[in-house]
Amino acid sequence: MPAMVLIGRGLALRPRQWLKGLPPGGRLMLVSEPKAWRLHGATVASALRRAGIRTSRHLLPGGERAKTWDAVSRLLQTMLRRGLGRDSAILALGGGSVTDAAGFAAAVYKRGIPWLSLPTTLVGQVDAGIGGKTAIDLAEGKNLVGAFHQPLAVVCDTDFLSTLSRRERLCGLAEAVKLGMVRDPLLLSGLRQDWPRLLAGEPASLDRWIRRAASGKATVVSRDPRETRGLREMLNFGHTVGHAVEAAAGFGPLRHGEAVVCGMRAALRLSQSCAGLPARTADDLDAFLRLMPVPRLRLRESDVLRALRQDKKTRRGRPRFILLKGVGRPLVNAHVPESSIRQAVRFILGEMR
Ligand SMILES: NC(=O)c1ccc[n+]([C@@H]2O[C@H](COP(=O)([O-])OP(=O)(O)OC[C@H]3O[C@@H](n4cnc5c(N)ncnc54)[C@H](O)[C@@H]3O)[C@@H](O)[C@H]2O)c1
Ligand SMILES: [Zn+2]
Repeated sequence: MPAMVLIGRGLALRPRQWLKGLPPGGRLMLVSEPKAWRLHGATVASALRRAGIRTSRHLLPGGERAKTWDAVSRLLQTMLRRGLGRDSAILALGGGSVTDAAGFAAAVYKRGIPWLSLPTTLVGQVDAGIGGKTAIDLAEGKNLVGAFHQPLAVVCDTDFLSTLSRRERLCGLAEAVKLGMVRDPLLLSGLRQDWPRLLAGEPASLDRWIRRAASGKATVVSRDPRETRGLREMLNFGHTVGHAVEAAAGFGPLRHGEAVVCGMRAALRLSQSCAGLPARTADDLDAFLRLMPVPRLRLRESDVLRALRQDKKTRRGRPRFILLKGVGRPLVNAHVPESSIRQAVRFILGEMR
């Protein structure tokens, strides 16, 4: 588990609070991407300078393009050139793409060096930046190469979120909604109640529900850090079909959170037919998910089904699903007949047109 998960306003300005676990004398390299760096890089770099910590910097490409072999190999070469050793550390400053890719580089460089996660997006603060799953993509699918590598600390400075667009906020809220659906009915009802304020980016509402979602995720991870105990898998709710539509769209037109909204809607359908989720509950949850707009796209059913077969959760050619028996009652690794999968995929592709 990470040594700590800190959440609050202005944390980036107080590095002494979260740099405690760093080996003395080692180098610290900030890894970010152009937009997050332009918006928040100077804040972090100057706070570190004031604390007497010298740093260097490397920028990954923006968005999902950070999560490629090419981008990571350039990062690893910079780390080598700057002389980073095992007593050095990486500080990842950015959204989930940066924390996934920089965390992965930290996991494999010299068989692993420490890293710190400073997520700057809502997706990052409620989900991606926490939990030590690091990864890059292959053309065939999302997150197919990666490692478990826990950061020394996760620092969620909620001031970073003030620059997010409504679309990016929605993506983060989708991951929080996912967590509410699988394990925390109170989180789900709180998000529903506060929805207009959350969408508008009201700091007090965001702060309150980020805390609840982030600590919920951290709890699941602490009980099942490597997804071997059948617990952490519940967090993949909506991600089987979600990752498949994201891959079929070609990583870009559909943001990850938007793909997860589609995936959750498909999973609710399957939950009704294969896990006994009452139709009333399924309809009610679906109505809530429909409040989250997803770009209109014409995806091919065959592309989505092919991507589904590449999913990490697939065993013997069969994708495995996380379904819901009810709110807060997940069914992990549910058996789903091929015909139901097709139906659910067809449903969601129809909804996306
Ligand atoms: N490791 C995990 O457990 C986990 C969990 C969920 C998602 N993920 C991964 O995370 C990625 C998605 O994360 P994301 O949505 O944060 O993507 P992202 O990192 O691509 O960021 C989204 C966009 O927001 C911009 N941005 C970053 N910080 C900003 C800020 N403070 N203000 C304004 N704009 C800002 C970025 O430049 C980018 O354009 C996906 O690759 C997904 O697979 C990983
Ligand atoms: Zn996700």
